[in-house]
Amino acid sequence: MPAPAATSKRKKVTLTPGHSPLDWARLKSSIQPPFPFRKIPLSEVKQHKDRNSPGGVWTVLNGKVYDMAPYLAFHPGGEDELMRVAGRDGTRLFMLTHSWVNVDAIVDACCIGIAVKDD
Ligand code: HEM
Repeated sequence: MPAPAATSKRKKVTLTPGHSPLDWARLKSSIQPPFPFRKIPLSEVKQHKDRNSPGGVWTVLNGKVYDMAPYLAFHPGGEDELMRVAGRDGTRLFMLTHSWVNVDAIVDACCIGIAVKDD
């Protein structure tokens, strides 16, 4: 039986040494997310889409804003895939790609606020 289309399109990504899920778990525990979270307008999220900027790489997932910069090199789907949602709401693409992945369990430490519409 032929493999399903989604499976045949899978592209293997090689993570650089030191970027396994276990390495991420270790690094993640050293990140101190802001408390309390603030409301972040989407126009501000848009300004954080450059991976070389010190301001971070922000995306919105399920109404929360994440700075993905520390996670980029650890993403099993590769940095470029993750950068596709930089500076914008990535919920739809995230769900299309891997609805089974538990965002909160993996990048909870990267949450920096709650996304709100601009006034
Ligand atoms: C911060 C948010 C994200 C987290 C925590 C995350 C996490 C993961 C994890 C754990 C995997 C491995 C899944 C598995 O092997 O079953 C994965 C794979 C992948 N991710 Fe993400 N991801 C995120 C965002 C995204 C986004 C926004 C996209 C698309 C634009 C994306 C595209 C992919 C792709 C293409 C793969 C490879 C899937 C495959 O092997 O077929 N990811 N991601």
